[in-house]
Amino acid sequence: MKKDSTISKKTEELSQLVSLAELSPAKVKKQITEINQLLDEIMGIKTLQAVDLVPPWIIKTVQFNSNSTPEDRLKELERTGNNVFMVKAETIILDYLTDSGTGAQSDEQWAKIMTADERYSHSKTYEEFIPVAQKLFSKKFVLPVHQGRSAENLVFSSLLNSLVERASHQDKKIICTGNSFFDTTIGNVQSNGAKVISADCPESERTNEYFDFKGNADVDKVKSIIKEHGSENIGFIVMTVVNNTIGGQPVSLQNLRAIHKIAKEHNILFLLDSARIFENAYFIQQREPGYQDKSIEEITKQMTELADVILMSGKKDGIVNMGGLIATNDENLYKLFLNRCILIEGHYSYGGMSGRDLAAFTQGLQEGSRQEHLRQRINQVTEFGNGFRRLGLPIQWPPGSNGIFLDAREFLPHIDKNFFPAQRLCAEIYWRYGIRPVEIGLSLVGRDETGIKSIPAKDFVRFTVPRRVYTKEHLDFTLEALSNLYAIREEIGGLVYKKEGLGNGHFTSTFDMVAVDDIPKLLPAVLKDFKTPKQTYKQTYFPPNAL
Ligand code: F0G
Repeated sequence: MKKDSTISKKTEELSQLVSLAELSPAKVKKQITEINQLLDEIMGIKTLQAVDLVPPWIIKTVQFNSNSTPEDRLKELERTGNNVFMVKAETIILDYLTDSGTGAQSDEQWAKIMTADERYSHSKTYEEFIPVAQKLFSKKFVLPVHQGRSAENLVFSSLLNSLVERASHQDKKIICTGNSFFDTTIGNVQSNGAKVISADCPESERTNEYFDFKGNADVDKVKSIIKEHGSENIGFIVMTVVNNTIGGQPVSLQNLRAIHKIAKEHNILFLLDSARIFENAYFIQQREPGYQDKSIEEITKQMTELADVILMSGKKDGIVNMGGLIATNDENLYKLFLNRCILIEGHYSYGGMSGRDLAAFTQGLQEGSRQEHLRQRINQVTEFGNGFRRLGLPIQWPPGSNGIFLDAREFLPHIDKNFFPAQRLCAEIYWRYGIRPVEIGLSLVGRDETGIKSIPAKDFVRFTVPRRVYTKEHLDFTLEALSNLYAIREEIGGLVYKKEGLGNGHFTSTFDMVAVDDIPKLLPAVLKDFKTPKQTYKQTYFPPNAL
């Protein structure tokens, strides 16, 4: 209230200033800045200054972008069944599909790429990678793998097979829990015969409300899952830092410790999906009492010390186009993973990567954990999110680390949630403006292990910001486009499956556009289809000699 009256007072002063005979543009500007700051405060936005946002690097190499037209892009949508995952990247002006493997490499990374050692085993590059990773993640044993999902595949197949077999004899299911699992993480659990029950904190569902650590797991829910299924039927607990699926939201050290304690009380393995661990550490430093004076390395150490096994996609915080790792202090586990690695990925000293990938990864890990890098990275994403909020666009608030998550059900309240509002918005934003976001919602979650369509708590359009790639002007262009789209949102309809893809269906499903007025009459058929069990991850094939 007090702020409201200050604003009206300031607005009055402003109109006086403007009407003065001797108009002073500088004074008017100052007054407007002050009003903007007050408006920010009312909206719960902490105004960032240029000093918070200035990049700690300069741009040395550029790549020219697409100049496709809306007509070109409509043709692409027609060709791909309205799935922006399948459109040709050369038609995209701004690509917010992912922050994975899309970061700009530094000059030092390129230099390391040139001098990398490509010898088959124990190359110089491998010998340089190991101590860097050991130190950052405080683990004795480190195994390079080519990306996050190969770490999941190696670790989960090693840990789950015997448990799943034993449980199946007792007609039981093996459950894996934690905060939200990423989609490939769910897929790799399911394809190994186990089931994921995620236990996000309730605050994560209240998109409009501020909460420091929306990525936290719900401690009581984890306890009750263990109680209900029996600790012997829990495969492992995974905490994903940051929690990508619900908005790139951070997890507090307090929450990690609480979940770790439960895991240890029940003798359950505690895993850390560390794709964005440094960004999570930065949030802890900025927000969690007691960590303001701690370095990113120190906070990362406190997180990793809790984990029995660390899985990392290096393509995010490792700022590399391709890379990943597994780390542990348990020699037996390391040997198990190592032997599987040799079968699936390659020799344990390159793990599916060429020497140059590994060299860029080693350097990227050191750059991605730098304070200056993280300050700019997190503030850039935050300021992008502030822009959405200033326009009144519904997003997961506050902004997370990897991008802005627009709540499609709130953006298109007239579209029934079974008609893929987020996926439809992706298609609209792509063809109209050449901007590609990605759906993290209804089509991504696919079907559950019984083959029934999963309905996620939220249907998000994610604008994932690649590291060190876009300038403020790129982001401002996006905000302007979205503000224009919001003005005509009532005209936007939904989508229905033309052909549903298997597994993580958002990669390959095709869709037909549906007009707003046609939705009620199509609803019963859509619901029937979603409730009819269909194949998910388990596909069987009999070779000709078996028939
Ligand atoms: N875990 C998390 C939390 C992730 O976000 C991802 C990938 C993975 C594991 C798998 O890693 O891609 O190296 O195999 N996320 C990307 C994204 C693809 O767009 O969010 P990967």
